Amino acid sequence: MIKRDGALPSLWQQTVNPLDISNTAPDTKYDVIIVGAGITGISLAHRLQSAGLQCLVLEAHSCCFGTTGGTTAHLNTLLDTPYTTIIKNFGEENAKLVAQGVKEAVHNIEKNIEKYQIACGFERTAAYLFAQDDDQQKELQDIVESCEKVSVPVHYTNTIPVNIPFIKAIEIPSQAKFSPVKYVYELAKAFIDAGGQLIEQTAVVTHAHRTDEVTSEEIIEVQTDTDLTYVTNALVYATHIPPGVNVLHLRCAPYRSYAMAVKLPLDNYPAELCYDMVDPYHYYRTQVIDGEPYFIAGGEDHKTGHEENTTACFNRLEAHVRKYFNVESITHKWSSQYYEPADGLPYIGELPGARPNVFVATGYGGNGMVYSQVATILLSDLILTGASAYKDVFDPNRVKPVAGFANFIKENADVVKNLVSGLVTRDQLESLSDLAHGDGKVVVFDKHKIALYKDPEGNLHVLNPTCTHLKCGVTWNAAELSWDCPCHGARYSIDGDVLNGPANMDLKKIDLKED
Ligand code: FES
Repeated sequence: MIKRDGALPSLWQQTVNPLDISNTAPDTKYDVIIVGAGITGISLAHRLQSAGLQCLVLEAHSCCFGTTGGTTAHLNTLLDTPYTTIIKNFGEENAKLVAQGVKEAVHNIEKNIEKYQIACGFERTAAYLFAQDDDQQKELQDIVESCEKVSVPVHYTNTIPVNIPFIKAIEIPSQAKFSPVKYVYELAKAFIDAGGQLIEQTAVVTHAHRTDEVTSEEIIEVQTDTDLTYVTNALVYATHIPPGVNVLHLRCAPYRSYAMAVKLPLDNYPAELCYDMVDPYHYYRTQVIDGEPYFIAGGEDHKTGHEENTTACFNRLEAHVRKYFNVESITHKWSSQYYEPADGLPYIGELPGARPNVFVATGYGGNGMVYSQVATILLSDLILTGASAYKDVFDPNRVKPVAGFANFIKENADVVKNLVSGLVTRDQLESLSDLAHGDGKVVVFDKHKIALYKDPEGNLHVLNPTCTHLKCGVTWNAAELSWDCPCHGARYSIDGDVLNGPANMDLKKIDLKED
């Protein structure tokens, strides 16, 4: 089974075998280096390589380790940010562009599947959105009116494919669903077959511009944690959130979402996509994998690091699913991360504050699958031609430097005092923490905070809970066995290894004083 950034296996992880790659790349100058081998990184690399550029993808873990391995993969043109809001924030013409972009996005995936005959369960199907009270009905009416303005076809319907009470519903035809990891792995193989290079287990630590001694052109040197350095003309951070310190970290809020795959009686699986309108909303769909249908339900979203008991989120989701569906068994439960953009649209284009030819794609909200393809189309056009019809509406530089940005960093730096190793013994910690096997928590010892996890065998894993990004204090995620940062969503394993950015340094391990 391929790995993911959480302890709970998603439905998709068993659907592929690890990629058979040499994990080395020629020491040559690349046209484009892409950081991150999720759906954005692989789709963009494939498109640029197919257009004749020489690309290298550098992945800190393995392909689809991040959110692509945990998405529920709804391909919908009815976005989480309603067109009502997009029109209000960006104007009608820009909202039309967004609608056109996400339509093109689904088509882009469909084209690749046809071209490479990828057996990933892709299916065009309708989606349904339903209101259950008067406020939701009013909101639904606004959504219909805004969809009409931006030419997204929707119509009212009297039936929905799930047995949940509703008072008003709409149908959105020709949406889609697929098995995301299967798709990305096959596309990665097509990229490699076309001469592209992919290296896993190699994190990018930093990049710097310099002048090429031969051509006198400005090039970018990319430093990795394996001490290898690569040189490129253009660099793309397809890492879900860019690493380092960037104004985008103030404009993208990290959220966790919960999903489960369940078995239902054979004639109970809805063929279509379905969404309620509660906040946070629930989402439902079916995916057939190797002839077996799975009903996938999700919801219970919350800000990363802001929920004390993440296991309770699964309990609430399970109670909700059991209330409306005849559940025979639950086969998978998992959670995943996404970044909500401040003004409702993703940030795709030149990385704010960086020198030229460094690009980013982030802030997809709950629409990562379609926006990954908008990013692919937009960034490949920018890199190949310097222009894109979508450039302005998704421009990350629409975010102006925020007053007090420097103070923000300082304030966070004061949150947790660093612990000097060796102040405390294992016995002291045991008595202080009263931890059950398999549990974790942050404890205070002599005014110092310590992150503790006791594994099922009773061994203590002891860390400094200061996030290495901007020094907020991490919190325990009991469901995924990870330490999560509530500020910008960095996550760490029980031994402090970075699971996802923006941090690029591990949490510090604490050596205990001998008893
Ligand atoms: Fe930024 Fe932790 S302080 S992710």
